[in-house]
Amino acid sequence: MEWAIKGQSELLHMNSSVVKHNFSLEIFVHSKNVGNIALRIGEKIKLEQIEKQKLYEAALLHDIGKSKIPQSILYKEGKLSSEEWEIMKKHAVYSEELFLSMVYKSKQNIEIGEIVRYHHENWDGSGYPENKAGEAIPLNSRIIRIADIFDAITRPRVYRPFKIKNTMKLMENMKGREIDPYIFDRSYNLLKDLLEDTYSKNTKSWRESKEIE
Ligand SMILES: [Fe+2]
Ligand SMILES: [Fe+2]
Repeated sequence: MEWAIKGQSELLHMNSSVVKHNFSLEIFVHSKNVGNIALRIGEKIKLEQIEKQKLYEAALLHDIGKSKIPQSILYKEGKLSSEEWEIMKKHAVYSEELFLSMVYKSKQNIEIGEIVRYHHENWDGSGYPENKAGEAIPLNSRIIRIADIFDAITRPRVYRPFKIKNTMKLMENMKGREIDPYIFDRSYNLLKDLLEDTYSKNTKSWRESKEIE
């Protein structure tokens, strides 16, 4: 996967200039996870090679705009105020802008920027930044939406094990609302396997750390 390596080295290169914006390790790991999950979904639905390349690169970059969100908002414990939430929502557009400010504006990079911009659009039109709905949302953005939610739910630091265990049920409820129901159905078994395989280890280590406390 030469292109995948290329995508990662581009991100690492980019990371050196992003560090000064406090781009955290947590976001870096999350982006890597979302990249890998999105790519697996892309393979499952038989995307063309060039689309998989765009998907992977966009997934690695999707939250890079969070580096421009104040840490007091980004890491706030508890609920964000409506003003803070409006600021938080800007990260999708910031991700696109930051990416395009660092690369040649080739056709492919502009497409990657668009995929990144729309990674929080919902299938039912309730997302942001433009309330796009259904197939008006780029296919790769819809894939990243699924991978992003999956990684968010299964991160042991964020959710408790009972939620991780119910990931598929939680996502089932998002079908046709936040997430594309067709892509979700086609990647259901893949996500279920990923959950059982990788994330059962996460809940085990979470339980162990709680037992030690
Ligand atoms: Fe995001
Ligand atoms: Fe994300």
